Amino acid sequence: MTGSLIILTGAGISADSGLATFRDADGMWSKFNWQDLATPEAFARDPQQVHAFYNARRAQLSDVAPNDAHRALAKLERDWMAAGGQFLLVTQNVDDLHERSGSKNLIHMHGELTKMRCVHCDYVDVAFEALSTDLPCLNCRRADVLRPDIVWFGEMPMQMDMIMEALESCTLFAAIGTSGTVYPAAGFADLARQAGARCVEINLDATDISTGFDECLTGRASDTVPNWVAGLCETTP
Ligand code: OAD
Repeated sequence: MTGSLIILTGAGISADSGLATFRDADGMWSKFNWQDLATPEAFARDPQQVHAFYNARRAQLSDVAPNDAHRALAKLERDWMAAGGQFLLVTQNVDDLHERSGSKNLIHMHGELTKMRCVHCDYVDVAFEALSTDLPCLNCRRADVLRPDIVWFGEMPMQMDMIMEALESCTLFAAIGTSGTVYPAAGFADLARQAGARCVEINLDATDISTGFDECLTGRASDTVPNWVAGLCETTP
């Protein structure tokens, strides 16, 4: 189990924990208009509406728990690192289910529901309660400056330098539960393949980018990921 393993996860891995995906038939963007909720312009127009959307999603975290797919990836990280390999888990998810299942080497490229950021001084703090425009920043003390520490449409995902550097030396790449429609994450498999990595997709169904993978496994993440991890541990020297 040596080499450099990068796992990319999307909303599908948390679907089996009860969190809605975005683009499935009952997904979030079928019920809500992302232009009103997930852009800097929407926040400037109506911050309370944006806060209400993310407050509800943050509150939901205490009602859900990691599933077998999250747990399998945490175990894979421990085993892979113990064998001397490099491991990076990149998630597009803003929930905290990966860390709650024990994943350590983890990048939340689209931010985290449990963090807030001051638009005035850039101070980032934990956010476990509801946010509002009335709350002051704990650092600069201004009001009307706190936003969810979430990457919105039109904004640069987080820690891209680290992700790009890791992709350059990747030997095995797996994309789990992501539709492959949002860039730059949707382009990671191509970059990994260019670096010589074997690419595996795990999803409920084939996606628009499935042809870019060496292997596509279909099924619910909570079934397919533990099986894939078990196979990997048996077969990878
Ligand atoms: P999507 O909703 O676009 O895709 C979820 C994928 O998970 C789909 O391909 C489903 O087929 C698959 N899926 C659903 N249930 C599954 C299950 N039980 N097991 C395995 N796969 C399952 O979500 P993302 O690709 O994560 O960004 O979306 C990417 C970004 O778009 C999000 O981070 C978010 C969204 O707009 C922002 O809000 C900035």
